Amino acid sequence: MKAVVIDGFGGVDQLHMQNVDNPEVGRGEVLVRVCATSVNPVDLKIRNGSAAKRMGVELPAILGRDLAGEVVRAAEGVVGFAEGQRFMAMANGTYAELTTAKADVLAPIPDKLSFEQAAALPLVLLTGAQLIERAIKVEAGWTVLVLGAAGSVGRSAVHVALKHGAKVIAGVRASQVKEAQFLGPEQADGDRADRFQVIATDDPKQFEKLHDLDAVADTVGGPTAARALKALKPCGVFGTVVEPPPDAAQHNVRVVRLVAQPDASRLYELADEVARGEFTIPIANTLPLDQVQEAHREAESHPSGKIVLKAA
Ligand SMILES: NC(=O)c1ccc[n+]([C@@H]2O[C@H](COP(=O)([O-])OP(=O)(O)OC[C@H]3O[C@@H](n4cnc5c(N)ncnc54)[C@H](OP(=O)(O)O)[C@@H]3O)[C@@H](O)[C@H]2O)c1
Repeated sequence: MKAVVIDGFGGVDQLHMQNVDNPEVGRGEVLVRVCATSVNPVDLKIRNGSAAKRMGVELPAILGRDLAGEVVRAAEGVVGFAEGQRFMAMANGTYAELTTAKADVLAPIPDKLSFEQAAALPLVLLTGAQLIERAIKVEAGWTVLVLGAAGSVGRSAVHVALKHGAKVIAGVRASQVKEAQFLGPEQADGDRADRFQVIATDDPKQFEKLHDLDAVADTVGGPTAARALKALKPCGVFGTVVEPPPDAAQHNVRVVRLVAQPDASRLYELADEVARGEFTIPIANTLPLDQVQEAHREAESHPSGKIVLKAA
């Protein structure tokens, strides 16, 4: 099969489409023809080397965490996967024509979603949901500041927090405030619109007004996260999907760093909410897999949505 392989760490020229052996289907696994995948920040960080060591990446490596495709065959003893059925998953090695995934991480693709739409979803939906539900354990009535709310993980976190009855403050760049106004009301009834507001986190005056937050859901880190820590109430929760600020432990708050895990049933529920128009994960561009270098270039240029890769 053809796959995008990296043999070294560095720029986009490390990404090469080449012939490799078909993956072997291990116990409990399903072989899937990849119809579409998408670029996530972690792919860029592995390719450029900044996250490779932390993640234990060995070369040569096939990147890709999002899978949307069709069943080719299931391992012996695995039931419920007929050839041609459409599934999605948070998986590994998806920049390829074929990949394998454990049967229990695969979720059916809602009928209304194309492979390209589905490919934008698994990692970011599960990460946003698990940040709110597993790391922060949000409760109805809490006030939660979501940092990076205009991003893909942030949108998922905003949606899930609103669903749980929280008041959500969407923290975005000043340039994203207009677009972010639609994150709440677009998806919501009147009640939810009342529980939603947007602030520009690069405007110190807006930040200074925040205090006594129950929780921060951080997807950006750095100085913005460090400022947000100070706006938490005593014993509040700072949940993050990136590095927490270095002095986080010195604050009287609970700091939780989340590493997202596959969860097929939650993925299906969230993807179905996307299919029903409750919220969106925008797609900025779709390119064939053999244009992966261009896809990474675009993903690095702060697009206003995901870059999807479809089978070439
Ligand atoms: N721990 C895990 O398991 C896990 C899983 C998935 C993702 N992640 C990490 O989560 C992060 C977000 O991922 P993503 O897919 O959501 O990326 P994304 O779609 O690029 O979203 C990030 C958003 O944050 C915005 N942003 C950056 N700095 C900001 C700041 N100081 N204030 C306000 N907004 C800011 C970005 O705007 P610009 O584009 O203008 O910079 C962008 O809209 C990445 O670092 C990714 O590696 C972790």
